[in-house]
Amino acid sequence: MTPSFENLLVTGGCGFIGANFIRHLLHETGFSGRIVNLDLLTYAGNPENLAGVAEDFPDQYVFVHGDVADEATVEAVFDAHRVDAVCHLAAESHVDRSILSPEEFLRTNVTGTFRLLEAARRRGVRFHHVSTDEVYGSLVTGLATEQTPYRPASPYAASKAASDHLVRAYHATYGLFATISNCSNNFGPYQFPEKLIPLMILRALLGQELPVYGDGKNVRDWLHVTDHCRALWEVLVRGQAGETYNVGGGEQLDNLAVVRQICALVDEAAGPLASGPRENLVRFVPDRPGHDFRYALSVEKIRAELGVAPRETFEAALAKTVAWYLENPAWVARVESGEYREWIKANYEGREKGAS
Ligand code: NAD
Ligand code: TYD
Repeated sequence: MTPSFENLLVTGGCGFIGANFIRHLLHETGFSGRIVNLDLLTYAGNPENLAGVAEDFPDQYVFVHGDVADEATVEAVFDAHRVDAVCHLAAESHVDRSILSPEEFLRTNVTGTFRLLEAARRRGVRFHHVSTDEVYGSLVTGLATEQTPYRPASPYAASKAASDHLVRAYHATYGLFATISNCSNNFGPYQFPEKLIPLMILRALLGQELPVYGDGKNVRDWLHVTDHCRALWEVLVRGQAGETYNVGGGEQLDNLAVVRQICALVDEAAGPLASGPRENLVRFVPDRPGHDFRYALSVEKIRAELGVAPRETFEAALAKTVAWYLENPAWVARVESGEYREWIKANYEGREKGAS
């Protein structure tokens, strides 16, 4: 289906999912319009995630260094680039950081979404909001549907819940063409090694201890990032105004099972350690405060209405992900040493934010 827009604003495009999504747009969808990537380049934003894109697609891709919570920046980007659709991914995204320091989560996730909604409403621009299954809170049994009441437990989940409510309010009150997707835990290339899967891959590779929170029995629904990107495109192009779509892998695993699989894959690829299998590196550490026990999503609606279903199995996608981290030591080294921040300082810190 041909999209109804030509100038797509992607926020947070230098992050994990944003970078995969921009690559997906350019390589897999046949989208011939322009992509404007507005990103503040926080610790989670790494322009190296989009290496080669500006050079390979000079007529289709533009980067703007700026803050989604800054009104003047957002207004200027909409006008300068004649934005006619938004895919909003920019966020503070890590639960542990939200526990230590929640304020930035409110600023970016709530105020930032508000600024973008205001700009979109004034211009009648189509708006897609990328959200999380964590808004539904921990489930004892069953699956969360799009009708499940919100019960966020972490400051991260609460900030995403607040932003989801704002998006719905803008649709109901102002008639904004808005859609929301609530996705489960993603994994794949370019994920910052603070989240479970890349953290465990890189620590296992180095033979470091593997910190598993609590008893490792917490359950997550895992989705490979390319399956998320396909779903985002379909919702952006064919989603109905005011609708919410759950996106998930349908494969629920406890954390210990995930870590054990990673250990086996790294043992196989890198050879065992002298001290024995990497599984021996698992250490049970004090639990995360308010740790949600189980997330599990019903993905029936997106399958029935938009024909979207995951293509990857967890096992095969995890093997590919382990291989990606092993095959990209330069990216890993620059992230682990913090060198990627030096590149950002040299290239962007002298420039006025929002000036592109
Ligand atoms: P990420 O942390 O890897 O990337 C976030 C990006 O947003 C970074 O490039 C960062 O620089 C940018 N950013 C942060 N604050 C900004 C601001 N004020 N202005 C402009 N840019 C800013 O996050 P991710 O894992 O790629 O997640 C992307 C989106 O998907 C988020 O909205 C997140 O809530 C949602 N989501 C993530 C997952 C997951 O498993 N990672 C699952 C479901 C939903
Ligand atoms: P994470 O990747 O932080 O995603 P989220 O909290 O958004 O689900 O964590 C996934 C699961 O792994 C979660 O139950 C917490 C757990 N976890 C650990 O056990 N050890 C770790 O070092 C991390 C980062 C997470």
